[in-house]
Amino acid sequence: MIPPIYKASDSRYEAGMQYVRCGKSGVRLPAISLGLWHNFGGVNNFENSLAMAHYAFDHGVVHFDLANNYGPPYGSAEETFGLMMKKSFLPYRDEMFISSKAGYDMWEGPYGNWGSRKYLMASLDQSLRRMNLDYVDLFYSHRYDPETPLDETLQALVDIVRQGKALYVGISRWPLEAADYAFKYLKERDVPCLIYQGRYSILDREVATSGILDKACDAGVGFIGFSPLAQGLLTDRYLNGIPSDSRMAVGNHLKQDVLSEKMLATIKTLNTIAGQRGEALSDMALAWILADKRVTSVIIGASSVPQLATNLKALSSAPFTQEELEMIDAACR
Ligand SMILES: NC(=O)c1ccc[n+]([C@@H]2O[C@H](COP(=O)([O-])OP(=O)(O)OC[C@H]3O[C@@H](n4cnc5c(N)ncnc54)[C@H](OP(=O)(O)O)[C@@H]3O)[C@@H](O)[C@H]2O)c1
Repeated sequence: MIPPIYKASDSRYEAGMQYVRCGKSGVRLPAISLGLWHNFGGVNNFENSLAMAHYAFDHGVVHFDLANNYGPPYGSAEETFGLMMKKSFLPYRDEMFISSKAGYDMWEGPYGNWGSRKYLMASLDQSLRRMNLDYVDLFYSHRYDPETPLDETLQALVDIVRQGKALYVGISRWPLEAADYAFKYLKERDVPCLIYQGRYSILDREVATSGILDKACDAGVGFIGFSPLAQGLLTDRYLNGIPSDSRMAVGNHLKQDVLSEKMLATIKTLNTIAGQRGEALSDMALAWILADKRVTSVIIGASSVPQLATNLKALSSAPFTQEELEMIDAACR
């Protein structure tokens, strides 16, 4: 047993975090949540990952978002998180809202991917073991599976809650019609969908244009936006080239060809607008999403404590003027 060495800040709930009701549920989530997709894997420096988790929790970020395959290698972000639970967070478990997901490729063979009951149930059991948890607060179907009957995936979610392995369930990246079906199916079985997770940023507004945001809102389901900084594009990271330690240079999830001349011009214009507001581009990008009242929370990623510190400043951003909103829209055209 590793002795606890971490004591959370006594002022963690006075650090400026806002807690927003998630749809029509009893849960309030921090307006800014922390995702462990990158920078918490087995390839990453554990001390840096731990420092980010401590900083987040010390500033009221009580929601940590994981998935079975976050790493690399797959599963290792959950292992890192499990170690952090042991080392630091076990005394605070009831203050934390921890999510995981299954839906993408995780292990070999026919049962390690997509949306079958077999996969979801086995994957969650593995996730719990890796994270040293008895239950997750929230378990997601990570993506829509066009081949598995929706009822099978959804009933597995219902049964996972009945088994006590998750307190709530959600869906991520499901198309509108399937999401509508899921919301109804789950509600009829008294396991209402807590939240929909979708990509949302100044640069990617598909969840708004497709009707997902309105649908979730109308159904009393919360919405949490992922990649709100467009994986770093909506920060100062790429204004003057591609830093060698950046996600674009290192990983394979943010391709270099995204940084076209047009994209760079857009980012530079957005950066100027943010400067006129007296804030960092990352803060304006986060504040822009949080200004959408249909949004419960945004899940940010970070590779360092200073990035996290900058991003949390978005909570005190000034409201947008109509002129600023129009300038932001114009920059994205
Ligand atoms: N449901 C899904 O399918 C799905 C898909 C993707 C993500 N997610 C969730 O959403 C979370 C967030 O996704 P994301 O990591 O793409 O979010 P993001 O916030 O859009 O991007 C995070 C990256 O932006 C850079 N960054 C952040 N703050 C910065 C700052 N202040 N200054 C400069 N650069 C900064 C860092 O990149 P560098 O590494 O270059 O420093 C950081 O790793 C994930 O961890 C995961 O939990 C879910």
